[in-house]
Amino acid sequence: MQGDLRIVGDVAAAFCDVVADAWESRTGEVFTIALSGGETARRCYEALARHADTPVDWSEVRVVWGDERCVPLDHEDSNHRLAQESLLRSVGPVAEIHPMQCDVADAYDRLIAGIDVDVIHLGLGPDAHTASLFPESPALDAPADRFVVPNEDPLGNNPIPRLTFTRAAIAAGRTVVVTVEGASKREALDRVRSGEDVPAARIDRPGVVWLTDPAAAGS
Ligand code: 6PG
Repeated sequence: MQGDLRIVGDVAAAFCDVVADAWESRTGEVFTIALSGGETARRCYEALARHADTPVDWSEVRVVWGDERCVPLDHEDSNHRLAQESLLRSVGPVAEIHPMQCDVADAYDRLIAGIDVDVIHLGLGPDAHTASLFPESPALDAPADRFVVPNEDPLGNNPIPRLTFTRAAIAAGRTVVVTVEGASKREALDRVRSGEDVPAARIDRPGVVWLTDPAAAGS
């Protein structure tokens, strides 16, 4: 397991601090954040929206997604909708917003390949997937020059087709932060920590930050 495992009482608050630190150390005119899906992410974004005192000037932020379900943007399973509900409608206008849509996978790949992503936010699934890199899925072995690819879950645990960042995209993030909450994630996190070859263990980014609560960390 690469990176820095931080066991914290409030994962969402710790996530806000990681974003604030990344903002303070930004080097470009536009600050790019790649959002995740899932309920842990929702709690993180609601906290970000509440922290009006965060240093982030959202009018200078480019919003992209690290993965998305192949559904309409207003669908209840859409990560775009999740971000709109939990964060984007609260922080006012942003510099750029780039929804992920499955019919333009190549264009999204080129978008991400051409920018620096300041923060990549990832979650951890109970099957130890991250983004939409599912166990035994083809996207795990995407070519090194691909940053976004279509993917599906061959084991059927996540039935909706997806678009996802690849390992190369994740490795290129300036800050990569994984948020993990709850006892339901303990087995998956244990598998990552034990060095088992699960998708989340393939996050190839030395400085990756793991924010986890005691329940998931088993402490
Ligand atoms: C998705 C997410 C996925 C998620 C994890 C954790 O689109 O489903 O990107 O990788 O982050 O499955 O989700 P929960 O926080 O809901 O457990």
